Amino acid sequence: MSIERLDKFLSSQTSISRNEIKTSIYKNQVTINGEIIKDTSRKVNPETDIIMLNGQQILYKKNLYIMLNKPKNTVSATKDNKDKTVIDIIPKNLYRKNLFPVGRLDKDTEGLLIITDDGEFSHRITSPKKEIYKVYEATINRKLTNSDIENFSNGIIFLDGTKCLPAKLEIISDYKALVTICEGKFHQVKKMFSVINAQVCELKRIKIGNLSLDENLQVGQSRELTPQEIKSIFD
Ligand code: URA
Repeated sequence: MSIERLDKFLSSQTSISRNEIKTSIYKNQVTINGEIIKDTSRKVNPETDIIMLNGQQILYKKNLYIMLNKPKNTVSATKDNKDKTVIDIIPKNLYRKNLFPVGRLDKDTEGLLIITDDGEFSHRITSPKKEIYKVYEATINRKLTNSDIENFSNGIIFLDGTKCLPAKLEIISDYKALVTICEGKFHQVKKMFSVINAQVCELKRIKIGNLSLDENLQVGQSRELTPQEIKSIFD
């Protein structure tokens, strides 16, 4: 990152507005390399300067990568007039501007959702051409059979003629299966089951690439991904 104005840098790395940052500066709450700064337009080098706000060091991160255990009744959008969005439930200490969800989970789907401000990273995960597989745990309203496995592996065709790529169906109990796909068509898993006369009662995403949902993350909770976890998505 190049040299930047102090107030601009701090607001880009936090959930705090530029006006609030200015107030903190006037209240002697901001230091650079140990020196209290009064000038909001002071230039900083975020890669070499030690910048503290309210006693907390603000480290420069070009992009942010968050794992969310998405709850039901939230929509995978940045803004919505009616429903709570997945961005609304990111805690203040993790929030910053320009965050968005990587792909979409339905309002009633739970589980692994990545939130970021890195568009190129998002594209690498969502584009079917990149073959990043996503695993869903689905609970179905009828007993699953071996012919369901075959139908999924042949590539399901929706009623409107849309053809899905071959998908893996692993039956884990009479009414539960793991579905592995690398596409993200609208309501894809639900529609694939409906073609084979089954209805999805519960849907949870548990894996993206080689990144599994952290089982210690309660529904609705989020945390930053580690560099190793980010890499594991593409391994
Ligand atoms: N497929 C669906 O039907 N819904 C989701 O939320 C994700 C995949």
